[in-house]
Amino acid sequence: MKKNFWQKLKKPFFVLAPMDDVTDLVFREVVCKTYKPDVFFTEFTNVDGLNSKGRAVLIDRFKFTEQQRPIVAQIWGIKPENFYHAAKLCKSLKFDGIDLNFGCPDRNVTKNGACSAMINNPSLAKEIIEATKKGSGGLPVSVKTRIGFAKVQTEEWLGFLLEQNLSALTIHGRTAKQLSLVEADWDEIKKGKNLRDKIAPQTLIIGNGDVRDFEHGLERVKETGVDGIMIGRGIFNDLYCFAPKDQKFVLDIKDMLDLLLFHARLFVNTWGNKKNFLILRRFFKIYVSNFPGASDLRIKLMSTNNLEEVENIVKNYTF
Ligand SMILES: Cc1cc2nc3c(=O)[nH]c(=O)nc-3n(C[C@H](O)[C@H](O)[C@H](O)COP(=O)(O)O)c2cc1C
Repeated sequence: MKKNFWQKLKKPFFVLAPMDDVTDLVFREVVCKTYKPDVFFTEFTNVDGLNSKGRAVLIDRFKFTEQQRPIVAQIWGIKPENFYHAAKLCKSLKFDGIDLNFGCPDRNVTKNGACSAMINNPSLAKEIIEATKKGSGGLPVSVKTRIGFAKVQTEEWLGFLLEQNLSALTIHGRTAKQLSLVEADWDEIKKGKNLRDKIAPQTLIIGNGDVRDFEHGLERVKETGVDGIMIGRGIFNDLYCFAPKDQKFVLDIKDMLDLLLFHARLFVNTWGNKKNFLILRRFFKIYVSNFPGASDLRIKLMSTNNLEEVENIVKNYTF
């Protein structure tokens, strides 16, 4: 049988975590300009919305460029039939894989039984996995989840998921209740990896939680034996977080401001009025930090309302 992209990755591999309103097509393009991870994910996207008139808006979350491959569409919801249809859509849009979000702890989604609430409802989780596989047209199906809901449930929950013949399983080493308030528990991630060895040797295990960069990720791989590492917030502090030490490029102020302009221009060109310009402001800290005058410059940038204002402020900045 033809290998899917997960099976072709060299281990250990690195993945940029899905982050809502952050890792859209535009930010992933910025990451491609610095140092690409081995795999990208889209932001999580609701299957009910994709099966409604709302699709016209939501479909923007599924835009990607060829250089962002391999790319996995992440979906969430509660209705198996909508996962089936969303999976068919992912196939037709030529994604490389489909990931099920069983990890988001936000009350707005868990109150309806979605995302990390699946941890309390394995029979629905199973139906959803099956419906997704059925619609996937052979695309590999993976799951991203946490180690428990209110308490640690590594053996029962991850053990259950590992029986579902998944291509990959991302384990974020916190319970849903813990949000991101405590350190990720890599001992539990290691337990998940050991369970995999027993139950599902074909399923790749990706560890996630508090990894700063490539070298830190390699330490985690050594400690736990996971196949891959997913980094989320680490990218905010280090745009080269996926680069091995000897390939890290030290970005000076001019490089950072060039990247900021690239990001802002691509944001406006790509989304036009479809995305609020204010979303861009949350990215400025990535580019404007840790140099003399950075905080003054950031304060000015935080008051901008359009691209021209950003361009003028950057143009008038003297090094
Ligand atoms: C702003 C933000 C948005 C997120 N959105 C998603 C999402 O859409 N799907 C998902 O599975 N996880 C989402 N997460 C969780 C991250 O993918 C990741 O699991 C978490 O940040 C822990 O990894 P880290 O310590 O490397 O950041 C989000 C996290 C952040 C900070």
